[in-house]
Amino acid sequence: MSDNNEKRDDLDYETTGHSWDGIEEYNKPLPKWWLMIFYACIVWGIGYTIAYPAWPGVKTATAGLLGWSTRANVEQDIQNHEASLAPINERLASVELTAIADDPELNTYAQNAGAAVFRTWCAQCHGSGAAGATGYPNLLDDDWLWGGTMEDIHYTVSHGIRNEQDADARYSEMPAFGRDELLSREEIAQVANFVMTLSGETPPSPDLVEAGAEVFDFNCSSCHGEDGTGDRFQGAPNLTDAIWLYGGDYDTIHETVFNARFGVMPPMGGADLNEAEIRAVATYVHGLGGGEASEE
Ligand code: HEC
Ligand code: HEC
Repeated sequence: MSDNNEKRDDLDYETTGHSWDGIEEYNKPLPKWWLMIFYACIVWGIGYTIAYPAWPGVKTATAGLLGWSTRANVEQDIQNHEASLAPINERLASVELTAIADDPELNTYAQNAGAAVFRTWCAQCHGSGAAGATGYPNLLDDDWLWGGTMEDIHYTVSHGIRNEQDADARYSEMPAFGRDELLSREEIAQVANFVMTLSGETPPSPDLVEAGAEVFDFNCSSCHGEDGTGDRFQGAPNLTDAIWLYGGDYDTIHETVFNARFGVMPPMGGADLNEAEIRAVATYVHGLGGGEASEE
């Protein structure tokens, strides 16, 4: 192997003089145009890393002279979007609750915005389709614990139910008849059998039903009504409609009467949702199928 570039007569090309086992290395310089672009790219690359965020540090990268940031851009986009919605949100937050439905533009906006609020703030408890779950009421039907008018729903969402955060939360407490020994085991068995008959079910011990009716009269009718149809002022469920918050089988009813329940919903007003968002989600829930007309 020799190191001298040499022009070989028998070839059109210069070689580098390198030769391995008779294989020779041609000396073919890169074309000028290619080199120029290559150097231009290097210069451009250095300029880019000065102008834009580029060099990684421990936590962040160098900021770049132009101050460009995707995060700031997104924040700006969100701000612009919110600014463009400010007028309609203001209108939504200030009109009469019952007037929202009569204003097609406002109503459409509230339904859409409300569906988004629902997915974020309500679906984890009430289900993404609002059909509820054990202990979490179905919001699609016209069976309401506390009421289904716009005003009722708006109040429930703003203040919540049986929570400690909001002094205006809806509140009521069914006594734990068994745990607190307000009723004997015998009486609880009687009344649980009776409650099943209210919705037309056949109870496991029909012979206890008559005595159960009496227990119900004395201990339950003040909240659930003499006929068992419930009381919205106290959020006491209707026991005659076969729609159950906790369950209508004997064991579940027995458990409810023995230990009671204490369904809690957090307040959404204040820190979490603003007035326009609360009204939007109330409009959405009201429009799900069970919404009731307001009393004038
Ligand atoms: C942490 C769980 C939880 C979240 C989150 C939650 N809820 Fe509730 N909600 C409940 C429970 C539990 C009840 C029933 C309380 C009871 O037993 O009275 C309830 C009751 C209601 C009621 C009353 C239903 C009736 O029959 O009167 C409405 C309306 C309602 N929720 C709407 C909403 C909306 C709208 C949101 C979202 C902004 C929401 N809830 C978020 C748990 C929740
Ligand atoms: C002080 C009012 C009050 C009294 C008295 C009361 N309840 Fe209740 N009851 C409620 C409330 C409120 C609920 C809903 C509890 C919740 O969601 O946390 C409820 C829930 C129930 C449920 C569950 C319904 C469902 O849909 O799953 C049953 C069953 C029931 N009560 C039966 C009785 C019986 C039987 C008595 C009498 C022995 C009784 N209650 C007395 C207020 C009362």
